[in-house]
Amino acid sequence: MKIAVMGHGVVGSGVVEVFYQHYENLKRKSGREMDIKYILDLRDFPESPYREKFIKDFSLIENDPEVTIVAEVMGGLHPAYDYVRACLEKGKSVVTSNKELVAAKGAELLRIAREHNVNFFFEASVGGGIPIIRPLHLCLAANEINEIAGILNGTTNFILTKMIRESMSFEDALKMAQELGYAERDPSADVEGQDACRKICILASLAFGRHVYPQEVHTEGITKITLEDVAYAGNWGGVIKLIGRARRLEDGGVSAMVSPGFIHFGSQLASVDDVFNGILVRGDATGDVVFYGKGAGKLPTASAVVADIVDAAKATGSSRSLCWEEGDGHTVCDWKETSSAFYFRLRGGCSEEALRRLFGPVKMLHRDGQPQDETAFVTGMLKEKDAAAAAEQLRASGCAVLGSIRVLDY
Ligand code: HSE
Repeated sequence: MKIAVMGHGVVGSGVVEVFYQHYENLKRKSGREMDIKYILDLRDFPESPYREKFIKDFSLIENDPEVTIVAEVMGGLHPAYDYVRACLEKGKSVVTSNKELVAAKGAELLRIAREHNVNFFFEASVGGGIPIIRPLHLCLAANEINEIAGILNGTTNFILTKMIRESMSFEDALKMAQELGYAERDPSADVEGQDACRKICILASLAFGRHVYPQEVHTEGITKITLEDVAYAGNWGGVIKLIGRARRLEDGGVSAMVSPGFIHFGSQLASVDDVFNGILVRGDATGDVVFYGKGAGKLPTASAVVADIVDAAKATGSSRSLCWEEGDGHTVCDWKETSSAFYFRLRGGCSEEALRRLFGPVKMLHRDGQPQDETAFVTGMLKEKDAAAAAEQLRASGCAVLGSIRVLDY
């Protein structure tokens, strides 16, 4: 069984490393003789012990009938999508760590794989080394999944942890995450929340059976979070985390959002720090199940890709349970109609009574060094659009809204 690895960046080089480190074991576990025949990358790697395997021309992979499994670890949508599609159409199974690809084209690629009786696996696309895709469609198959909420981006969790624990600046923490190989090539995808958005889209599509596309999901990142907000979260009794979440609604619809949230110290997600991810899955039979582990980095992610290679080698046909339908772009309900509790931080004179008139019951928060003209509070449950309207009235009355973060109940 010959394998091609497309991409030799952080994850791709990890895949080759893990593959040969566990070579004998992998052959035993798959029950197949297998080897990597090609490594596709436009760059030269003259020092690599595998230099004779490097190629620059994708058509060599596409047209080599000996290659039956292709690992796509290039990232990005193009040319990854075109290559993956071509491989599936040639009857090769494809495994990938590419969340952008799966979030945008998952339903289509799964259908093409089924039509050619091969597999399209993507365990590494969510949660790095954490097994989550297989547990969702195999181990939790007897459940209706009602909700998924998770810390899905290692880079932002690493940055928030460094800011909270070591008062490190945002820029220094991001630089460190990049050096450790956690961040995306364009780290704005991490800090602006798009990476977490792609991952919650994949999980929601799998859990709810219909493709949830990233453009349907309201997404906010962590760039506006300040140490003051962190201090108020502590006074409230929790921490700030970037949370991707999706919920099945009673009317059959789906709500989904990515945003920072106050998470109570008592929550299992509150203690998920550094590059770790934590994913809470709420099943109707199991109740809450939490998956925890390293969510980014070369070897954890590569280990998930290589495990997919082994599963693809063992498979005798397409997986029946790993599938979902195409969406119509309107699977997710209007986020402004969803509800949440909110934290606000204001500058300017606002009496508690005035706040209650606008927001209903509020709980005032405090921090060390709180300036006299700074007010912070949390509200009860409010519709997004009502909270936004109340904040607008505050602005109109001369208050500056310095921070606004959802208060989540996980
Ligand atoms: N940039 C991603 C993260 C890599 O930080 O989680 C893993 O998907």
